[in-house]
Amino acid sequence: MNSSNTPYKRVIITSRKEELPGVVTFTLAFADGRPIPYRSGNFITFIFTMKGVEDRRSYSISSTSELNEPISFTVKRIDNGCYSRILYDQTKVGDVFFIAGVTGRFTLPVNTKKFQQYFFFAAGIGIGPVFPLIKSLLAKDENAFVTLIYSNRWQGSTIFYDELVRLAATYGNRFQVEFLYSSSKNLERARISKALLPVLMREYVRVPKSSILAYVCGPYNYMRMTILSLEEYGIDESNIRKENFRPFERPVIKTEPKDQKTYTVHLKLHDREVSFLCHYPDSILEAARKNGVLIPFSCESGRCASCAGRCVNGKVWMAFNEVLLDSDLEEGIVLTCSGHPIEGDVTIEI
Ligand SMILES: Cc1cc2nc3c(=O)[nH]c(=O)nc-3n(C[C@H](O)[C@H](O)[C@H](O)COP(=O)(O)OP(=O)(O)OC[C@H]3O[C@@H](n4cnc5c(N)ncnc54)[C@H](O)[C@@H]3O)c2cc1C
Ligand code: FES
Repeated sequence: MNSSNTPYKRVIITSRKEELPGVVTFTLAFADGRPIPYRSGNFITFIFTMKGVEDRRSYSISSTSELNEPISFTVKRIDNGCYSRILYDQTKVGDVFFIAGVTGRFTLPVNTKKFQQYFFFAAGIGIGPVFPLIKSLLAKDENAFVTLIYSNRWQGSTIFYDELVRLAATYGNRFQVEFLYSSSKNLERARISKALLPVLMREYVRVPKSSILAYVCGPYNYMRMTILSLEEYGIDESNIRKENFRPFERPVIKTEPKDQKTYTVHLKLHDREVSFLCHYPDSILEAARKNGVLIPFSCESGRCASCAGRCVNGKVWMAFNEVLLDSDLEEGIVLTCSGHPIEGDVTIEI
C-alpha cells in the first residue's frame, strides 16, 4: 500500500519480543511522529492488503497508556491463520503496516473508585487487553482490589507469567492471581465451570457483589461459560465487560427498522464535517463508505464497537448490538455498522 494514497496511518515496528513459542509482542512507532492516544484495553485495527484485496485484523494493545509505555500488541500465531502467521513468522523491526485506528470499549471506568474490586477472567491470548488494565489499576488506584483468574493449558503456555508473579509479589494484598491449568491432575480446579467459578468467587471476593466489576476475554465457549456463571453467582450483567476476539464466529441475525426512508447523516469527524444521504438498507457506515468517508470499523457485526460514534441530534436505530451497554446507549453512543437514521436526519460525532 502506498502511504500517499491511503487514509490509514502508517506505523513502523520498533521491537519484537518472543514471549513464548508462537506468541510475540511488537512495539510500534507512528511514521508521522504523531501517536494516536489510547486507553488501556483499546485495540488497533490493522489493514492488510493481499492480492489487491483489503483485509482487517484487530489486535489489543498490551501496553499500559497510564504508565507511558510504548504502544505494543501481542499476537498469538494461529496455525492456519492468514495474518497472525505473517506477523509471527515474518515480521521484523523496521517493517511498515497501516492501521485504521485505535478504539474499543474494554476499558476501565473513568472513575475507578465506583467499584471496589475488579475481577479479570482471561484465557490464553485473552490476557492481551487484560494485562494493561490490571497494571493501570494497580498503579493508579491504591484502593482497588484486583483479582485475575487466568486459564491456560499449563504454566509453560502462560503469557506474561513472570510479570504477573512479580506484580503479585509487589502489590501483595491488592493483587491476587489464580492460575488455572487445563492439564492439571486436579480436575476440580482445572477449567472454569459453573461449579468452580462460585468456589473461586467465595475465596477471593472481599466486597458486596454490587461493588464488583468483572472483565472477561478468551475463546467464545470460555467467555460464555464465565459470563453465565458470573451472572448465576449474582454479578449483574451491567457489571460485566467482555472483549470478543472472534466476532465473526456466529452469524448476525438482523432485524429491520419500521422506518426505512432516506435521511441525511451529518458526520462530525475530528478534522471536518460531512453530510450524505443514507438509503436503507445501507447502514450509516456503508453509506459513509459509498460517499468516500472513512469511519473506523472492524467486525461489522455489532460486536467490537470500533465503528461507534455519539448521536448528538436525531435518532439512530441499530439492527444489532452486542457490545454497547445501557449506560452507553443513554449517552447516545451508536454503532454505525448496524445503525440507520430513523424519523429524520441525524448528526453523529465520531
Ligand atoms: C477486538 C479484537 C482484539 C483482538 N486482539 C487480539 C490480540 O491481542 N492478539 C491476538 O493474537 N489476536 C487478537 N485478535 C484476533 C485477531 O484479530 C485475528 O482474528 C487472529 O490473529 C487470527 O487472524 P488470522 O488472519 O491469522 O486468521 P484467519 O485467517 O482469519 O483465520 C484462519 C482460521 O483460524 C481460525 N481462527 C481465527 N482466529 C482464531 C483464534 N483467535 N483462535 C483460534 N482460531 C482462530 C478461524 O476460524 C479460521 O478457521 C483480536 C480480535 C478482535 C476482534
Ligand atoms: S465494526 Fe464492530 S461493532 Fe461496528
